[in-house]
Amino acid sequence: MDSNIVWHTHEVDRSFREQQQGHRSCVLWFTGLSGSGKSTIANEVEKQIAYAGNRTYTLDGDNVRHGLNKGLTFSDEDRIENIRRVSEVAKLMCDAGCIVFTAFISPFNEEREKAKQLLGDDYIEVFIDTPLEVCESRDPKGLYKKARSGEIKNFTGISSDFEAPENAQIHIKTDGKSVSECAELVINHLRNNQILK
Ligand code: ADX
Repeated sequence: MDSNIVWHTHEVDRSFREQQQGHRSCVLWFTGLSGSGKSTIANEVEKQIAYAGNRTYTLDGDNVRHGLNKGLTFSDEDRIENIRRVSEVAKLMCDAGCIVFTAFISPFNEEREKAKQLLGDDYIEVFIDTPLEVCESRDPKGLYKKARSGEIKNFTGISSDFEAPENAQIHIKTDGKSVSECAELVINHLRNNQILK
């Protein structure tokens, strides 16, 4: 940290924004394999709570990698940097008053732990637990097929690790559940913790 850079405290702060909008902010950290349903479930939850008047924003792996994180690969090192940047952006957006959804594979325990340290009580881990066989049979982007043939290297679940979270606040076994049933589990957690308007 540069000792010539000093943190400035602004008077319009998070608690002002939270009071003004009538709900808390937090980060719903979705983790799971590619094709597990992170973005789909996050989208369904966001739709329901945003239409009910809550301020929301989604940071999605595929989208953020087109802009802020363009140029990062899927090496372990770049995935670590991907998650570090996303954690910092999520923190800013949380400070801005949003209920933030992050939908990134975020495959490593250590990186999720760092995000949790950075975000503290605002961090709510949502494990979208869909078996690899199911993700692979869906293969919405045709990437598993390419990973199996070796055309894509370091593919999560095939040639790169996914360390399943052990203590996610919300653990959703999606197999046999509809998108709206999965979304309801997240919304119930938010309601039970008095986060929503
Ligand atoms: S993370 O591991 O760094 O958290 P992130 O969520 O940003 O991954 O991006 C994952 C998305 O990138 C996948 O849903 C998939 O569409 C695409 N992708 C392309 N190559 C790979 C790969 N080698 N491993 C995993 N996902 C990949």
